Amino acid sequence: MPSHSGLFTVIERAARKAAPRLRRDFNEVQHLQVSRKGPADFVSMADKRAEQTLVEELRHARPDWAILAEEGGELPGDPNKPRFIVDPLDGTSNFLHGIPHFAISIAVEEPLASGKREVTTALVYQPMTDESFWAEKGKGAWLQDARLRVSARRDLADSLIATGIPFLGHGDFAQWSRIFGAIAPEVAGIRRLGAASLDLAWVAAGRFDGYWEANLQPWDVAAGILLVKEAGGFVTDFRGGDRPIERNEYLAANDALHSKLHKLVGSSIRNM
Ligand code: IPD
Ligand code: CA
Ligand code: CA
Ligand code: CA
Repeated sequence: MPSHSGLFTVIERAARKAAPRLRRDFNEVQHLQVSRKGPADFVSMADKRAEQTLVEELRHARPDWAILAEEGGELPGDPNKPRFIVDPLDGTSNFLHGIPHFAISIAVEEPLASGKREVTTALVYQPMTDESFWAEKGKGAWLQDARLRVSARRDLADSLIATGIPFLGHGDFAQWSRIFGAIAPEVAGIRRLGAASLDLAWVAAGRFDGYWEANLQPWDVAAGILLVKEAGGFVTDFRGGDRPIERNEYLAANDALHSKLHKLVGSSIRNM
């Protein structure tokens, strides 16, 4: 059993406090108040209530740390201290359609001497399965107390690849289609499950062999990227570079599949 840091205990406790209400809201989803932030961009009372619980818990435990949360934006804190990055409900569309595939995602980003920041603690918690995917930098990635490794598959023909598909008003459908056209004929299957944090957590767990998506937000991916890296995988932008967040392109897989996927993705977007 790995030893948790005190900080991990803080974020897991916050997630476990928010989860029962999310489960109750999910079971009564037809009564939830839902509004639209933009085209096909829904937010419900469940998102807001979960975020309120998470922010209260995290603030209570670390009062001077900033919190970046999807619904409330940035709550300022001491710039020399770490920052929490929170998606209170990743997979809102699934949730609102009664599909039990969604998660709470929490990352802790620490300031470095260079002025940059890096994610050092990550949790993706799936309330309906009570699965806690977590990682701490240098300590590996875990599902509860079981060590996670990315899949060992080396052939695209055996691989199950996840993606996120652009939708009404969001993302570059032409680019996604070209990448899909390059990857789909080469692999055993493609999945679009609708929660980016879980797509990455499942790559870390070896359930998916790879994943690509673009046009996400920091709270969708901050925790999941650390999970994949700590499980021995790679996360790059579509050209294989090490700035996926800056380019807002995410290609994740084990070593062998990453280089194969990267070639397919690169050739499909080179002339765009
Ligand atoms: C969404 C999910 C989805 C991704 C969308 C995100 P939300 O997050 O992660 O998989 O494709 O782009 O916005 O809004 O459900 O937290
Ligand atoms: Ca959202
Ligand atoms: Ca999200
Ligand atoms: Ca969300």
